[in-house]
Amino acid sequence: MREKFNVVKLDTTNTSLVFAVNDGNLGIAHYGKKITDLPQSDSLDMFLLNGQWGASVDRFNITKMSYSFVGDGNMRESLVSVINSDGTYTSRFVYKKHSLVNGGIPLDDLPCARNAEKTLIVELADDYANLTLKQYYTVFKDSDIIAVRQELTNNGKGNVTVLRLMSLQLDVSGTSYNCVSFNGAWARERYRKDTAVTAGTWMIQSMGGQSSAIMNPFFMAKNPDGNGVYAFNLIYSGNHKEIVEACNDINSTRFLVGINDYCFNLTLKAGETFATPQAVMLFADSEQSVTSEMHNFVNNHIVDPKFAYKDRPLLLNNWEGTHFSFTEEKLLELADKAAELGVELFVLDDGWFGHRDNDASSLGDWYDYKEKLNGSLGKLADKIRAKGLHFGIWVEPEMISEDSDLFRNHPEYAMIVPGREPIRRRNQLVLDLVNKDVQDYLIKEIGDVIERCKAYYVKWDCNRHISDIYSATFENTGEYFHRYVLGLYRVISALKKRFPDVLFESCSAGGNRFDLGMLYYMPQTWCSDMTEPRHRLSIQEGTLYAYPQSAIGAHVSACQNSSFESKFNVACLGAFGYELDATKCTQEELEIIKKQIVFYKQHRHLLQFGKYYRLKSIFGRERKSSWIIISEDKSEAIAFLAETDELINSVPSEWRFTGLDDNALYSFEVRPQNNFKSDVIASGTAGGDALNNCEFSFGKLFSDETDRQPYGTPLATRLIYFKRID
Ligand code: GLA
Repeated sequence: MREKFNVVKLDTTNTSLVFAVNDGNLGIAHYGKKITDLPQSDSLDMFLLNGQWGASVDRFNITKMSYSFVGDGNMRESLVSVINSDGTYTSRFVYKKHSLVNGGIPLDDLPCARNAEKTLIVELADDYANLTLKQYYTVFKDSDIIAVRQELTNNGKGNVTVLRLMSLQLDVSGTSYNCVSFNGAWARERYRKDTAVTAGTWMIQSMGGQSSAIMNPFFMAKNPDGNGVYAFNLIYSGNHKEIVEACNDINSTRFLVGINDYCFNLTLKAGETFATPQAVMLFADSEQSVTSEMHNFVNNHIVDPKFAYKDRPLLLNNWEGTHFSFTEEKLLELADKAAELGVELFVLDDGWFGHRDNDASSLGDWYDYKEKLNGSLGKLADKIRAKGLHFGIWVEPEMISEDSDLFRNHPEYAMIVPGREPIRRRNQLVLDLVNKDVQDYLIKEIGDVIERCKAYYVKWDCNRHISDIYSATFENTGEYFHRYVLGLYRVISALKKRFPDVLFESCSAGGNRFDLGMLYYMPQTWCSDMTEPRHRLSIQEGTLYAYPQSAIGAHVSACQNSSFESKFNVACLGAFGYELDATKCTQEELEIIKKQIVFYKQHRHLLQFGKYYRLKSIFGRERKSSWIIISEDKSEAIAFLAETDELINSVPSEWRFTGLDDNALYSFEVRPQNNFKSDVIASGTAGGDALNNCEFSFGKLFSDETDRQPYGTPLATRLIYFKRID
């Protein structure tokens, strides 16, 4: 038996994924820290549990596998589930062969990670059912991420129904993983939640057609021995599902990541192949390493290289300042103020098209609202550019208002189940993006908008979920959700091709579609409609677990309850801007904004692309927050400190930093803020080793805030700039 073992090892910088092939079965021998020498074949059952462990494993004698299916006697959630052409549910996939090729094997219609180093292709087959399952494991030179996807091909003559095909399966030892997911709602996106999965099945998913604010596809699973963290994500923007199954019978845990099988069944005709999106997995020694790896991966392998490390413009968006009520005069006044303050990009948000004065009309009519704009959009954009600003525009392409010419002329473009009243959210319906005519209409109409205002930036919004799935142009509704995403990607790809230099920002009622699929096309995503800094602290920290600062749209607004300085200190950790009516700001506020803009521009590259370390977590027991951003050569850094509790009769917190050069001497200076007294000691020098290892109280810094509320300061924040001087 033993001589039949064949071992396949795939290495990343710090990890190894080892498969062992035994008699037509493929087991996962190891996934974790890198191993250099493989044990001799004689000792392989050190890795693989292939003993006689009863009914649950007696078919394959292997507990940890990279694939699973229905009908193998191993009754767990499976990677693939089909109805064969003979109407049966049973599958028997066995290992056939594998090969290693250079580079990645990207797909035409789905985003796949860029700049791959090599790909392991494992081929499995169910000969009886005439099905081939190919697994693609892709690694990257500078990364510990492994991207995984599957392809199922029907080599037979009849139709096969695919009920589920996940992108990734990983089985690991033990059954007490602490799973960390990022869940929430509109204006409360990506709050960290910890769940111990010790028995049964735990799941996160989305069902509304977008990756959702409710449950992001990114999650981590922490090893019960405190020994390492697995992390997963999906390069996809539609319904997703992540399953963690604690299999107490065989003491292992299964992870599955992929397209949600909710309302899903796909017809695979003779000769057809279904390819899943790519999922990504990572093994790292700590949560911090997961974050750093994920950030590097997004910047090096997801985001369009043209924008990857390009400084993002500082913008002013009119939405929170004016909502739908604006005139050309108002916009020009705002633009004047923006230019005076040092803003670089003016973004005209919702309300510039059709006859849109509220959210009940005009979606789909992407022509200029000339009465409101006092002329054409192009002319307005020219006037704004003449003030020295770039011009950006908001669109919501996937939607249609019933009060629109588009709906009057093409009611069939809206996604409505015939004979049923559709669900209306925000007074709007969703366009049927499965219909190629609709896709082509959008490519043309949105292309024309970008062209006629010569947009430097486009905010692509999507303000409701999908409910009434139906297309008059496609028979199998079980494929609808997925085909919608393919249609969306087709439209965006065409526009990106036509306008390669335009910076796109994705948005979905705030952060309802913050995922690697959208980031592949659009390098930044509006994080949340919640701009109140105390709440935003949680949203940004949650988002930063998996997505880098440069990908996170973060603005200061005129919302109540917090000082202007705290709004900036929180929002500056991202693709930054303002979203307020600057013409209504007091002179004092304008002076504050000007100084903030100077600070941001001075440190923009560091803030957007420096290495981010979480220090105190807002989700921790203390509910305080701090982080530090450090430049690659460790010559400079910015730290953020936030007291979130009322400081009544309490001693100030103590803060410790990390990641600075132990051997360097740093000068530090607290960013001057208008709301603390000038006699506060706010600068000095310190060794990197002291900063990395000692606790600092910064005593009076926090107690002397001048805009304290009568019973303390609900949110007090500071930024500290460090510069290596020796
Ligand atoms: C969504 C976005 C906002 C704004 C409005 C406009 O809610 O998240 O930023 O663009 O739509 O209607």
